[in-house]
Order: sequence, then structure tokens, then C-alpha cells
Amino acid sequence: MIYYKKYMPCALFLMLLTASVGQLTAQEKLPCLKKVFKKDFTIGTALNTAQIEERDPKAAALIAEQFNTATPENIMKAEIIHPKWDTYNFELADKMVAYCKKNNIAVNAHTLIWHSQLPRFAYGIQSVDSFKTFFTNHISTIAARYDGKVFSWDVVNEALNEDGTMRNSVFLKKLGDSFVTSAFRIAAAAAPNTELYYNDYNNEQPKKRAGCIALIKKIQEAGVRIDGVGIQGHWHLGKLPLKDIEESIEQYAAMGLKVMFTELDIEVLKRDFEGADVSQRMKSDPTMDPYKNGLPDSIQEKLAADYEALFALFLKHRDKIERVTFWGVDDGQSWLNGWPVPGRTNYPLLFDREFKAKPAFYKVIALKK
Ligand code: XIL
Repeated sequence: MIYYKKYMPCALFLMLLTASVGQLTAQEKLPCLKKVFKKDFTIGTALNTAQIEERDPKAAALIAEQFNTATPENIMKAEIIHPKWDTYNFELADKMVAYCKKNNIAVNAHTLIWHSQLPRFAYGIQSVDSFKTFFTNHISTIAARYDGKVFSWDVVNEALNEDGTMRNSVFLKKLGDSFVTSAFRIAAAAAPNTELYYNDYNNEQPKKRAGCIALIKKIQEAGVRIDGVGIQGHWHLGKLPLKDIEESIEQYAAMGLKVMFTELDIEVLKRDFEGADVSQRMKSDPTMDPYKNGLPDSIQEKLAADYEALFALFLKHRDKIERVTFWGVDDGQSWLNGWPVPGRTNYPLLFDREFKAKPAFYKVIALKK
């Protein structure tokens, strides 16, 4: 007993030392994106329900360690959060807010007004007046509930066509092209403490970008608050539009907007079209899924080189870029395994199916050394 008491402090010290050395080596083994880019921009991920509910401890550990912002991949979309005219389902959104608070992660809420993943009842609304009521109630109820709890909202998502004209969505048909300004006006009144963004894919490309700039100017000229613009960034291996991206960062920032990359992934599999129109699909056939048993080193290296070039550009414009969010945590969970071709094995992110950092991760980190 005496022996135990005498040596206890030392044993405790040794235990603590081992624990802290253990921690240090763990940190040295895997640098943290959010720490490495702390002075540059925040680093985000999309989160699905399983991740919000911490069903996989490995994913949970990686998320808390690597990211300081997060976007709900689906659970704040209208079909889930507002399934019926007078029914809201806040359960999962509340869970996400609590999960992120616990882990010191800011929430970038996504999305209030989008033509896709709408509840069935919304398509059935006939009169313009009723549609206006739905539109107003939807935005104000949800934006007010999470004001001060989420950092930002993607107020409107994907309102534009590729040529920069307005998409012929149910919102355009029912409310005319001022619906985007109206959405921001309603959101600003309901959520004075939340940043408000316009979000789209391919809005780095010149024609769509011009349409995006015109749309945002309209909001600004109406005296309505808009804080930033999100470029989704669903790009393709070997085809990063770096010049368009750079011009976009400069032009959007010149309008007084914060610039964000909100849904970043780099697709390594074949696809016949660019962008991320979720209604576009392609047929499945074995030639479309060539890396079922693993990604060849040559492709892995190309992916790393693409990510390196992209992050070098982001760092060059770190004064204008607020956030870089990946559309998912690990390759196994990416939506690109199921879209636009179901059941493929895709490799678009920085972490592999075992949650291990890929060569692309180390290339991106090395830019800061
Ligand atoms: C995707 C999700 O990742 C999928 O799980 C879902 O089935 C369809 O939507 N642009 C967006 C995102 O703004 O909301 C989309 O997310 C991907 C394209």
C-alpha cells in the first residue's frame, strides 16, 4: 500500500505523459485541415443523417477533428423539413444544430428555396396567392427558428440556366423573376443574425456567371441584404476551370460579396455533362464503373494534382474566400457513388472509404509548409 502511494504520482505522471505523447503523435500523423487553413478560410463538410447521429465512431472522430463548418446534405431541404402545408419536421435539423454546437462546428444551412427535393404538396398548389403564402411561410418559419443557431443560409439554390437566364422553375412560373429578391427580403427579416447567400453550380463559367452577377445586382439594388455567393464546385478530374474560377472569385468579391466553395468534389468517373443538375441521369453499364476494386495510382496522383492546383488558387485569394466545403466526409459516402449513375465506386474526396487521408489530402496540406 505504502509502495503504491509512494509511486502513484510517478505512475500517474507517466500515464499522462504517455497519453499526451500519444496525442502528439496522432496529431503529427494526421494534420487537421481546419487548423492548417485557420488563417485562410473555414473548412466544411456536408453531413448526412448517419453522421449527424454519430452512427460510425470513425466518421464522428474525423469530422470533429478536421472540420469547423458543416452543411446538411439533405435534412434541411423542403421535402424533409416541411413535408406538408402545415407540418414542419425539425427533428433532424435540431439534432444537427446540437451536434455541431457540441463539436464547435458552424452550420451553413442548405437550402430555403430550391426547385428540387420539394415536398409533393408544393407542386400541387394552384393559385398564385396560395403559392406566395407557402413561399413566405416556408422561408420565415425556418429562417426564424434557426436564427442565431446557424451561421448562414443558402437562401436560393440554382435559380439559373447555363446561359445565365432564369431557370423555368415552379418558383419562376408562379412568382416571376423577382422571386429571388423576395426570398432574400423575407429571409433578412426573419433571420437578422444569419448570413444570407446565393448558391449555384457552374456559376464560375462566364455566361452563367454573368447571369449570377445580374441576379445579385438586382437584389443589391433593391436594398435587400445578400452577404455572399456560393460556387458549388462539382468538378471533373483534369478539367478544373481554374481561369474561370479565378475570374469569378475576383468579380464576385468586387461586388462586396463573400465568396465560398460550397459543395466541392472532383469526379474521377466518366460523365457526359458538367455541373450538378440532380435531375440529369445516365444509364448504368460496366464500362462506367472501372475502379470498383480500387483507384489506380496514376488517377490517384492526378486527383492529388488537381486538388493541389485548386487549393493553391484558393490560397492566392484567401482574402476573398470565406469557406471551402467538401460535399461529404469520405469517398464511401459521397453522393457521386449514386449520381448520375447508380451504384458506382467513386473517389472524389480527400478521405478514402477507410477514413484514411488520401495523397490529395497531403498535397493540399503541403501547400502551407
Ligand atoms: C444532393 C445530395 O448529396 C444527395 O444525397 C441528394 O440525393 C440529391 O442532392 N447541388 C446541391 C445539393 O445543391 O443539395 C445536392 O445534394 C447536389 C447538387
